[in-house]
Amino acid sequence: MASELNINISIDVLDPEELNEQERKAMQLAQEAAKDAYAPYSNFLVGAALVLEDGTMFKGSNQENAAYPSGLCAERTALFALSANHPNKKITMMAVTARRRSDEQFLPAMPCGACRQVMAEYEYKQQEAIPVLLQAQDGKFYRFRSVADLLPFQFTKEHL
Ligand code: THU
Repeated sequence: MASELNINISIDVLDPEELNEQERKAMQLAQEAAKDAYAPYSNFLVGAALVLEDGTMFKGSNQENAAYPSGLCAERTALFALSANHPNKKITMMAVTARRRSDEQFLPAMPCGACRQVMAEYEYKQQEAIPVLLQAQDGKFYRFRSVADLLPFQFTKEHL
């Protein structure tokens, strides 16, 4: 009989007051970043913030294009810009949030598959887990302890 493989992923579900100072600041920066989204087609504003090992932060927002597939998500915009400008700085955490342009309220923002793959690349590169803080339902937050928890069974450099 076939054996079964179970994967168990623990996610911290947090109320706003349970965020630590750095997480609060990172989520705030992600919210600010969403304001800079260039999203005239979807009107869906996504912001991502990266906290670096020296405590500084870096942000990105989604950048759309009239040729739709040429646009890029907030997470990848932030990660590629960071890697292009500070290629050797380690990321200690990442925060993502989103809202509709017509609404002030922030919505649950789950990174798309392509962004998870890119997040996994940089986590693999730095050989240190990147915790990911996401806006969740009802004003709560999800804290994934690593990108690997968001993307199990990864394809990485090791497979080449
Ligand atoms: N988007 C992101 O920025 N991040 C994601 O993980 C999912 C989707 C953007 C892409 C597009 O500009 C808009 O949200 C609607 O899909």
